[in-house]
Amino acid sequence: MPNPTSNIPQHVAIIMDGNGRWAKARGLPRIMGHKKGAESLRSTLEACKKTGIRYLTIYAFSSENWKRPVIEVGDLMELLRTFLDKEISTLHKNGVKLRVIGDLSKLASDIHTQIKAAETLTSNNQDFNLTVALSYGARQEILQAMQKMATLVENGDIAINTIDEDTVSSLLYTHSIPDPDLLIRTAGEQRLSNFLLWQSAYTELYFTNVLWPDFSPEHLHEAIIEYSNRERRYGTTSE
Ligand code: FPP
Repeated sequence: MPNPTSNIPQHVAIIMDGNGRWAKARGLPRIMGHKKGAESLRSTLEACKKTGIRYLTIYAFSSENWKRPVIEVGDLMELLRTFLDKEISTLHKNGVKLRVIGDLSKLASDIHTQIKAAETLTSNNQDFNLTVALSYGARQEILQAMQKMATLVENGDIAINTIDEDTVSSLLYTHSIPDPDLLIRTAGEQRLSNFLLWQSAYTELYFTNVLWPDFSPEHLHEAIIEYSNRERRYGTTSE
């Protein structure tokens, strides 16, 4: 496996796309693609941790995914229940702090309870940060931040002329997480699909045709090598 030695991203975000196509290509129900995708998530998380990455943020279920057929949504929620039930103790043992971001009010109350318990259990862990975006949409996240900001102004808690980029960042779901350095999207599509729109202003984007269930630590390392060869200028010149 290649060993990227320098310039490791601190925070990697992933749009895990292609589960359905992976299953279809094998004549399997879509849920089998999602299950295999959950395995890719496990191996990717381990590889991130080993490589020295500190933050992994995954797009597990978008606010638009609620429009999928009821059966598929139910299957994905069941997979989530199993993940929260079976994986949390391993994550905790490995020093992983779990955060879930998104409009959690739409989730079933038992999942909500599982999420809160998992976040509390892992809240003091410091070795690695896994953030799961669930029922998440970036525009909705920015909208709720604007609403909070309007309330703060209305109550006289902040003055309009003191509002800056940090104020906005502090009101997003991701307030305690650095912006992603590298965003990977699998399965060929080249768009952000309403994921981390504010946070990815300067993020390096990496697109691969590999379907998420086929994504392996080797693919992660290819992305990191490409990242480490890019020059991030944040709008400045290279001189
Ligand atoms: C996109 O593939 C994937 C999803 C909508 C779900 C991602 C979920 C997992 C990988 C399960 C593991 C995560 C947790 C936290 C349990 P798609 O279905 O849109 O694929 P397609 O574009 O090929 O149809």
